[in-house]
Amino acid sequence: MFQLLDGKALSLQIKDELANEVRQLTGEGRRAPHLAAVIVGEDGASMTYVANKEKSSHEVGFTSSVYRFAERTTEEELLKSIDFLNNDPEIDGFIVQLPLPKHINEQNVINAISPDKDVDGFTSVNVGRMVLSEEAYLPATPMGICTLLKRYGVETVGKHCVVVGRSNIVGTPVANLLSRKGFDCTVTLCHSKTQNLAELTRQADILIVAIGKPEFVTADMVKEGATVIDVGIHRIPDDTKKSGYRLIGDVKHSEVDKHCAWVTPVPGGVGPLTIVSLLQNTMKAYKRHEGIK
Ligand code: GUN
Repeated sequence: MFQLLDGKALSLQIKDELANEVRQLTGEGRRAPHLAAVIVGEDGASMTYVANKEKSSHEVGFTSSVYRFAERTTEEELLKSIDFLNNDPEIDGFIVQLPLPKHINEQNVINAISPDKDVDGFTSVNVGRMVLSEEAYLPATPMGICTLLKRYGVETVGKHCVVVGRSNIVGTPVANLLSRKGFDCTVTLCHSKTQNLAELTRQADILIVAIGKPEFVTADMVKEGATVIDVGIHRIPDDTKKSGYRLIGDVKHSEVDKHCAWVTPVPGGVGPLTIVSLLQNTMKAYKRHEGIK
C-alpha cells in the first residue's frame, strides 16, 4: 500500500508555525514580513498563482502587495518598477511571475531583482550560490520537494533519483539539491533528447516528474516501491465538476500509485509546498533585514 506525501496537510502545519512566529514578532512591536508580487498581463494560470500567494501571505499574517502591469508594458518600464521594489525598505522580498510577455527578456528582468530580495531564487547570483552550497534563497518548487521528502522521512542517502524535465525552475535545481550533501542521492536528469527514458525511470528509487505533459508517466515506467513526486498540474474539462474542470498531473495516478511506497497527489502534493517555501524564504529575508537571528 502506498503512503501519501500530503502536501496540503504539511503546508497547513508549516503555515501554522509561520503564523505563530509572525504573531510573536508583531507582538514585540515589529512590522510584519512583506512579500510583493509583480504580474504582467492576464494569463489565467499566473493570475491564479499570484492570488494563491496573496491569500497564503495573509493567512500567516504577512503584508502582501501585488503590482499589476498591462501586457503591453515595456521591459524598461518593468525594470523601473523592479528598481523601486529593490529600494523599498518596507518590502522584504518579491517575485516576478513568469512567464512574461514575449517582447520582454525574462532573464534581464530576473537579474534586475536584488539577490537579497529574490525570494524565488531565480537570479543568477542565487542559482550560483545554490550550486556552490552557499547561503541562498532556494527556488520554491525544488525547496518544497526537499521539505516533503525530509518531513515525511523518505530515505534519500545513496538512492537513485531520476528527474524528468530540465527546466530552470524545477528539474535543473531539484537535481542539484538532491545530489548535495544531506540528501546524497545519485541523480539522473532526463529531458526531451534522453534515449530509452522508461528504462531509466524504471531504475528510480525516487522519481521526480516535471515535464508538463498530462499523465505522461505510466505504471510500466515505475519501479515497485518507488517514491514518485508529481510536479505537473493540468486543467482537464470535466462536466461532472461544478468548476467544469479537474486537475491532473504528469503521472497517471490511477495506475501508478499502487506500485509506489510514497506518492504526491495532484492536487494537494507539491503545489501547496511551493507557496509555503516562498513564505519561508520571505521570513528569512525579513529576519535578515531586521537583524533577527
Ligand atoms: N511561474 C511558474 N512557477 C513560478 C514560480 O515559482 N515563480 C514565478 N515567479 N513564476 C512562476
